[in-house]
Amino acid sequence: MRKTFIAASFAAVVFVAVSCGTAGRRTGSTYPVVDSLMRVMTLEEKIGQTVLFTSDWSVTGPTMRTGYLDDIRAGRCGNIFNAYTADYTRELQRVAVEETRLGIPLLFGYDVIHGFRTIFPINLALSCTWDPASVEESARIAAREATAAGLHWTFSPMCDICVEPRWGRISEGSGEDAFLGSALAAAMTRGYQGDDLSADNTLLACVKHYAAYGAPQAGRDYNTVDMSERWLREFYLPPYKAAIDAGALSVMASFNELDGVPATASKHLMEDILRDEWGFKGFVVTDYTGINEMVCHGYAADEEDAASLAVNAGIDMDMQSAAYMNYLKGLVEAGKVSEKTVDDCCRRVLEVKAALGLFEDPYRYCSAEREAAETLTDQNRAAARRIACESMVLLSNNGILPLEKGRPVAVTGPLADSKNDLLASWRGAGRVEDVPVSVLGAIREVNPVSASAGTVVLVAGEDCRWSGEAASRSDIRLPEEQTALLRQLKAQRKKVVLVVMNGRPLDLSEESQLADAILEAWYPGTMGGYAVADVLFGDFNPSGKLSVTFPRNLGQVPIYHYAKNTGRPYVHPEAKYESRYLDVPNEPLYAFGHGLSYTDFTYGEPELSAASFSGEGSITVRTSVSNTGSRAGTETVQLYIRDLVGSVTRPVKQLKGFRKVSLAPGETEEVSFTIDKETLSFWRQDMSFGPETGDFKLFVGGASDKVKEAQFSYTE
Ligand code: NOJ
Repeated sequence: MRKTFIAASFAAVVFVAVSCGTAGRRTGSTYPVVDSLMRVMTLEEKIGQTVLFTSDWSVTGPTMRTGYLDDIRAGRCGNIFNAYTADYTRELQRVAVEETRLGIPLLFGYDVIHGFRTIFPINLALSCTWDPASVEESARIAAREATAAGLHWTFSPMCDICVEPRWGRISEGSGEDAFLGSALAAAMTRGYQGDDLSADNTLLACVKHYAAYGAPQAGRDYNTVDMSERWLREFYLPPYKAAIDAGALSVMASFNELDGVPATASKHLMEDILRDEWGFKGFVVTDYTGINEMVCHGYAADEEDAASLAVNAGIDMDMQSAAYMNYLKGLVEAGKVSEKTVDDCCRRVLEVKAALGLFEDPYRYCSAEREAAETLTDQNRAAARRIACESMVLLSNNGILPLEKGRPVAVTGPLADSKNDLLASWRGAGRVEDVPVSVLGAIREVNPVSASAGTVVLVAGEDCRWSGEAASRSDIRLPEEQTALLRQLKAQRKKVVLVVMNGRPLDLSEESQLADAILEAWYPGTMGGYAVADVLFGDFNPSGKLSVTFPRNLGQVPIYHYAKNTGRPYVHPEAKYESRYLDVPNEPLYAFGHGLSYTDFTYGEPELSAASFSGEGSITVRTSVSNTGSRAGTETVQLYIRDLVGSVTRPVKQLKGFRKVSLAPGETEEVSFTIDKETLSFWRQDMSFGPETGDFKLFVGGASDKVKEAQFSYTE
């Protein structure tokens, strides 16, 4: 009896919209199906749409606790994460659609961070490709695989700028720079969402962790974040905004506080900036138990208070804390939260469900056939191998690389034969069994591996559990036994190629003195073993460039390329009262943008189309790049700018453009960048955003510390 009523009522609501052909289509400011639902929903049902619970995982896959199934049935939980496979999501969806009063489909979310089943290199590595097209492609493949397994929503892109290598989650982002980070955040969003969110193979993106989660004091996860509004806006916010401008329809609030207010309760972040300034139209979800945690922050008296603070700040969905489920109704009845506020949250969630096409077909994404056909295909794995190659950064090379095929090498080190570490943390549905070979296995396929060989490939780095969430380290050196092994090999007069797999910038100062070459392989994913071999033997000429500065030691941290000059810049070698260290140079070990190739690139002097421009005009800077070596190679040409005098001080160098060029030996290409008002804009002293007239320097080159400069001015 109950079922009949439920089915009839769902059909009635959806029928009106579907028969008009508009169920999943936005007309004006909303979707007809959403309006129809909002008219008949009870307060409890509306609150249910603001609740997100995780499924539990057992060794063999996901399971739902009976309690959660009851919550779904009762309309108390409208969204689930950590549940996938076409069959499993179909069954859960059936419960929501057929056994609830209104039959509103569930939204299924998951952390698809650097691949779903085919695992790509970690995001920090992806950013070292400096290639939005490759990053977009990795996200597109992830979306195809994930949606075939019933997922609608990924908690990605992670847009947290980070200059803190102690923080384990630096591995999940795109490095230290807002310009590069923005380009890649937009690329990932496009890759996930495509141009039609309702297609059965596009995935809703979630911009996280908003905001400034990547700046925890002392690099300790979840720790306090504090910075000026100007610094926040200039160096931290742009990638989040770029992802939203690219169409992302969900945002995750970060765990941290900012200026004393937990992000989860920050009206300034959620309303003033995100909705009012940026025009964001999607919904905001907490990060896990972010609501409850406001009690520990000392910001909310209890969980009820926390729920009220969060919802009144503009947080639409509560992940896992159950605070909305437990307290919102009472808060509305007590007049502490308006019904309109709950309506807004519910409506935003329903509109995204409509945009995904879930009201037209709640089972659109659960396709066992597609899951079988599109997962871990040869094509996906080939892309993962190529992109892994593109992400690796050749940090140093005295000429030993590339290795000669067929000549014996020894392979050693704790990560040499590890398939598990290749996959890193947040490996989606990736499995160790999917990894065809370790680095050792891949090298064996090319060369005899012989313990007594004079050339040794030492595969060292960090256990993959040392990166990711709750994986901060106070020491960013390699474990002592690994460096000791390198010392020992050098004492035996071996030639050593150090391959490092890790998720953060490391202090490789000693290793850089000892090793004959260092290849930063990061955690390269499913096909990482082959990719390392491709680079070592020269089948792929390395082209990755660092998206984050590598310090000489932890004492230099934070160190990044957009530092200010200070009132006492260090220019005199013997000076004492200048901004410097007594024990190390100011310069990093490896600068932002650094990365070697097996060929050489030579830059011409930058040439400007004019010495100045004004107003809405622009100038062009051109430089020639020549491949003066003997192999084909790819170079990333970088443009940096310095505003010499500003109403607030400006960085000595700030990335403002980049282009990748592939050149045959002897080939030269002209690379040009346009400089306009936008290029010169910043948050001025009065907090308006725009350019200031005056003189500027520009720098063009293959790394932030390897540039040629020119000067121009911007006039009224
Ligand atoms: C906590 C993490 O901070 C966030 O990145 C992730 O998306 C959620 N948990 C869900 O797993």
